[in-house]
Amino acid sequence: MPEPLINLTIKKIMDLMTKIISLCKRRGFVFPSSEIYGGFSAVYDLGPYGVELANNIKKEWWKVMVQEREDIVGLDSAIFMHPKIWEASGHVSGFADPLTECKKCNGRLRVDHLLEGINIFADEKMTEEEINQLFDKHKGEIKCPNCGKNDWTKVKKFSLLVKANLGNFTDDWSRDPVYLRGETCQGIYVNYLNVLDSNRVKIPFGIAQIGKAFRNEITARQFIFRTIEFEQMEMQYFCSPAQEMEEYEKLRQNRWQYYLNLGISEKNLKWHKHENLVFYAKEAYDIEYNFPFGFKELEGIHARGNYDLSQHGKFSGVILDYADPKTKKKYIPHIIESSVGVGRTMLAVLTEAFNEEQVKEGEIRTVLKFPARLAPIKAAVFPLLGNKPELAEKARNIFNDLKKVFQVEFDDSGNIGKRYRRQDEIGTLYCITIDFESLEKNTVTVRDRDTMQQERVNITELKQFLTDKITKASSY
Ligand code: GAP
Repeated sequence: MPEPLINLTIKKIMDLMTKIISLCKRRGFVFPSSEIYGGFSAVYDLGPYGVELANNIKKEWWKVMVQEREDIVGLDSAIFMHPKIWEASGHVSGFADPLTECKKCNGRLRVDHLLEGINIFADEKMTEEEINQLFDKHKGEIKCPNCGKNDWTKVKKFSLLVKANLGNFTDDWSRDPVYLRGETCQGIYVNYLNVLDSNRVKIPFGIAQIGKAFRNEITARQFIFRTIEFEQMEMQYFCSPAQEMEEYEKLRQNRWQYYLNLGISEKNLKWHKHENLVFYAKEAYDIEYNFPFGFKELEGIHARGNYDLSQHGKFSGVILDYADPKTKKKYIPHIIESSVGVGRTMLAVLTEAFNEEQVKEGEIRTVLKFPARLAPIKAAVFPLLGNKPELAEKARNIFNDLKKVFQVEFDDSGNIGKRYRRQDEIGTLYCITIDFESLEKNTVTVRDRDTMQQERVNITELKQFLTDKITKASSY
């Protein structure tokens, strides 16, 4: 009997996710944490190609956010901070997920996500009682995604902040907790004055940082989309109240263009406007990406008013006003922010790059078509035959020369076809083969990942050839 279309669609979606997860493990992009001990839920390690990809993503973000901007400076604040920061920010009282448990399979699930599944959107600010009332109204319509049953416990809100026992020498971990930061931007807010006093910055200006954040998340098999330890790339832009919305529109446009420049196709991106804003926010949008499991938040872009600096001013007792150098008027700067996860960007980039192509009857090649500047390996160098010393030596010399400029690999194992397939799977841009003609004519073949076409290039021109190709492909 033919499978119903709906099942086929779900199967296709799951297939893509399963294929990406499997390739990431098989080829050394992403490993489940602590695997030899049975794993550690919602934590992942980056393998040799994963760390190259993540570094390239971070480099790209830093380039557009800091290097190419006169008005934005970088920062690297510590993970541990004064616990009062998390009270001032509202995280201690309000940073919590509403959870319910399926009484049949004991699976813990986020109530806002369950409600979203039937097109009911819970407000982030809802108290435990309010969300219980909403859930009670609709829970009859919601089946457990794990076991298909419909029997739920009361909703409880669980704090997302991760506690540490730093400086606490008692056995009671809940006493005087220090937190692992739940977002990196708080480190930016509390250094606003330091940056202002030590740098020649004038409003409007931004502070950007990349760093780890930690959240006690309940995750449902979302791979690196949602993890409890993750890296954020955040930029906070300080402006006058009058500038806030104009700068916000500019930021939204810049961030959209950034993803197009990153090789993400526009059809896979969309805006999601927040309808239920927190009381201080002026406007909030997410850029969503069409992940294998559907459109979900990739990045948040928020106009936050002067809430953050007002709160830190109040809780620290330090005046965080800005004195306008022209008018001499004082005000608390307003903030617009751009915030995105490295892991989430990686998953979007991997989804976008993943391709399966029929090369001939019965033969499919899997290829990651990363944009040039994100590809973990730019070129691989192969001696045609691994057991011919004269080929190996010439190939080594080329490899040693190229490695000073690019991330390159040397591979002399197996037949050339297999070596090509392996490099395709990790998204290597060019494969350079040293054959017998190389010994006579000092030329090599260069095979392009996407077209699979080969051309002969003189070894003396190879470095420039690759530089031209890679920079041309990288320019926008
Ligand atoms: N400072 C604002 C802030 O942290 P957020 O919407 O909670 O806002 C911003 O997070 C971005 O950080 C998200 O759009 C996502 O890319 C990333 N992110 C948040 N939680 C994450 C998690 N548990 N795992 C991976 N990435 C996460």
